[in-house]
Amino acid sequence: VTLDLVLVGFGNVGRRFVRLLNEIAPRLAKEHALETRVVGIATRSRGCAHGADGLDGAALADRVEGGGRLGRRESTRAFLRAALRRNAAAARARRLVVVEVTTLDVERGQPAVDHVKMALAGRAHVVTANKGPAAFAYRALERTARRVDRRFLFESAVMDGVPVFNLARAALPGVTVDGFRGVVNSTTNYMLTAMESGDSFERALATMQERGIAEADPSLDIDGWDAAAKTAALANVLLGAALTPHTIEREGVSADAGAAVAAARAAGRKLKLVASAERAGASVRGRVRLVELPATDQLAGIDGPQNALILQTDLLGEISIVQRGSGLTATAYGLVADLVAIAREVSPTRATRPQPTRARRRRSPSPRGRRRS
Ligand SMILES: NC(=O)c1ccc[n+]([C@@H]2O[C@H](COP(=O)([O-])OP(=O)(O)OC[C@H]3O[C@@H](n4cnc5c(N)ncnc54)[C@H](OP(=O)(O)O)[C@@H]3O)[C@@H](O)[C@H]2O)c1
Repeated sequence: VTLDLVLVGFGNVGRRFVRLLNEIAPRLAKEHALETRVVGIATRSRGCAHGADGLDGAALADRVEGGGRLGRRESTRAFLRAALRRNAAAARARRLVVVEVTTLDVERGQPAVDHVKMALAGRAHVVTANKGPAAFAYRALERTARRVDRRFLFESAVMDGVPVFNLARAALPGVTVDGFRGVVNSTTNYMLTAMESGDSFERALATMQERGIAEADPSLDIDGWDAAAKTAALANVLLGAALTPHTIEREGVSADAGAAVAAARAAGRKLKLVASAERAGASVRGRVRLVELPATDQLAGIDGPQNALILQTDLLGEISIVQRGSGLTATAYGLVADLVAIAREVSPTRATRPQPTRARRRRSPSPRGRRRS
């Protein structure tokens, strides 16, 4: 299947995503019968590009990084409307995907929520790395996606491409998640680790900004908003909650944390910014708090930019997911994984049929009349 992609946002993640698609195109074609074409890109200040026959995403990424523009300026709504109209045939054939990679807004999750709504209304699938839509409007967007028979996927929104949502969706049938706790913000975790070794708050933050890991507006990280948005998204999806970042009890990491870090260290403990949620009667309570953990706690060993999430489940007990490597490639990969999930639905016979290993292929007799794939 060929998926046609409309990118809304072409920053660090969007540019890494189009390059990664090129890099792993042979693998996607061979293992998943998936090809992709970028047919539109919108930015806020660098103009927009449409290209029904496919745009050269990597060349456009080079151009933007060199200070150039994509094309003429359009409002994003007008761009999306035009892109959905121009690609209506692909949308009807379930081959159109809007890739939402604009900046996070923690006030209302906008305009990303509206971008997702517009895309679904135009019968496009949506994949996004933006936490806003799942954190502010998961239920409504998921309901709309089901009604129009399209997918709304956001694996990259939490722990980059490490499968958290896809794990729960695809690999835990019949299991109820009762709660979770985790370290989900790389910037603050790196800062707390650096402060344990005597770095100042300011120096630790500057390092994360230099490495491009801190959000464009670092207050999103250090005031706990990024972690609160992730907590809301996780709780909404895994626990069926209807939380927003504003209904999460929230604490951040300030310069004052230095003393608490030192005190914890002196006591052989660790200070961590822990995101958690659990059921409380019929509702769900979500929190982002600075917690002093004993050294034996799994989360105490998650240092630097690493992340971890521990799911509490009814049938499997605790399941821990640890992310040791992070970065733009991991985030871009999460978007690719979501595309593969969509391709499997669009063309289930080719994209989902397990590929037999060579050994199995030799051993198994070939059933008569089986079609070659
Ligand atoms: N960076 C990471 O490691 C990472 C990891 C996981 C998730 N995420 C999430 O992924 C998303 C993108 O991150 P990023 O690092 O790529 O951000 P970024 O570098 O700041 O890029 C954001 C892009 O969105 C565009 N944009 C913003 N508002 C727009 C609007 N209303 N209409 C059209 N385009 C708009 C910007 O255009 P201009 O360039 O013209 O401003 C820019 O191209 C964010 O939601 C972030 O939280 C990032």
